[in-house]
Amino acid sequence: MAKNRLMTRRRTVMLGLGLLAGMGFSTVTGGLKQLKSQMLALDVQQRVKQRTFAVAGNAPLRDRATAKKLLYGAAGEYRTLSSDKEFAACFARECAILVPEGELKWKALRPGPDQFDFTKGDWLAEFAQTHNMLFRGHTLVWHEALPKWFADTVNKENAEQMLLKHIKTVAGHYAGKIHSWDVVNEAVFLEDGLPDGLRNSPWLQLLGPNYINMAFRAAAAADPQALLAYNDFGLDYQDQEPKRVAVLKLLERLKSQGAPVQALGIQAHLWGDNSRNFNPKMLKAFLRNVADLGLKVLITELDVSDKNLPSDVSARDRIVAAVYEDYLSAVLEESAVIAVLTWGLSDRYTWFDWADSRKRADGLPVRPLPLDRGLKRKLAWNAIARTLSQTSNR
Ligand code: XIL
Repeated sequence: MAKNRLMTRRRTVMLGLGLLAGMGFSTVTGGLKQLKSQMLALDVQQRVKQRTFAVAGNAPLRDRATAKKLLYGAAGEYRTLSSDKEFAACFARECAILVPEGELKWKALRPGPDQFDFTKGDWLAEFAQTHNMLFRGHTLVWHEALPKWFADTVNKENAEQMLLKHIKTVAGHYAGKIHSWDVVNEAVFLEDGLPDGLRNSPWLQLLGPNYINMAFRAAAAADPQALLAYNDFGLDYQDQEPKRVAVLKLLERLKSQGAPVQALGIQAHLWGDNSRNFNPKMLKAFLRNVADLGLKVLITELDVSDKNLPSDVSARDRIVAAVYEDYLSAVLEESAVIAVLTWGLSDRYTWFDWADSRKRADGLPVRPLPLDRGLKRKLAWNAIARTLSQTSNR
């Protein structure tokens, strides 16, 4: 029955392709792209329909992870956690670690060149402490989320002092309370075409490539207890091998310069529509190489976009769950992986609602996270629970 339905939809897609052949070129290429991803989604749908995603018991993700000496947690915001009590309770139940989604970025912390505002960050740190959660820091150095005054104020003469003062003050403020800091975020971007694949970020322009080393040293001095991580995206799929190589080389360079980098954060913003090839072997080989440098690995911002997936909610959730399960079962095989954080906990609050690149063409609300908008556990939650339960002790 389901197979028949799928065949009918496949025929509709083929018919669509035929119709497009009679239209103008640009309309055709745009339409073809969409049809291609719809066909890919149908393929995935067929592949995942056998899975049960069965989970034993009701234990929250934090307990399942802790039982394996792993951490599960999520990104959370002051705005939602302080106003939505039901959500906050859920967050505390499921998570053993909290990372502020925006509150520790420059834009949020630095109203002016000489000012620091820790109000929201402190609220989140206390929320974590009250609920017996660890607290992550995100992020000390990034090319985005810089305050408006930055461009007019920071120049080659004062950039080093500005960077060092920021790290000293912020990492110093939270010293002793932070499990791990994303010291530098997204410093590699091959598309910019610069040496070593470094991103053409304001920091690189102002200080040259040594800003990364500098930042790690300053963070270690300000908070000797925190695990210091380099965090980046675009490391997950088969065709992202060049980025993995560039990041590995960066980590090697930092180590050889004596920079106190101790972990790699892998953002893992994943796609459900099967448009990219996932190659677990290649990803695991990369993780082993990172571990061989003596580094830990954290999955820091996991979520799965349901863009281009079918409108039908249960079909969609099933594919998203399968992506979670495939990804986590692969990465958790590497014992250097010590934590998994999703970028949000519930579809009620997800950055995909605002990110144009992740919005659905049918306008339906996105469903990338473990809990739905009503805070009910989805199959994605089951997928995470299963992989945590199946992994070996750290
Ligand atoms: C995102 C937040 O989720 C959004 O709310 C904000 O508008 C932009 O930043 N990589 C990162 C995160 O390292 O800081 C980003 O967070 C998502 C991509």
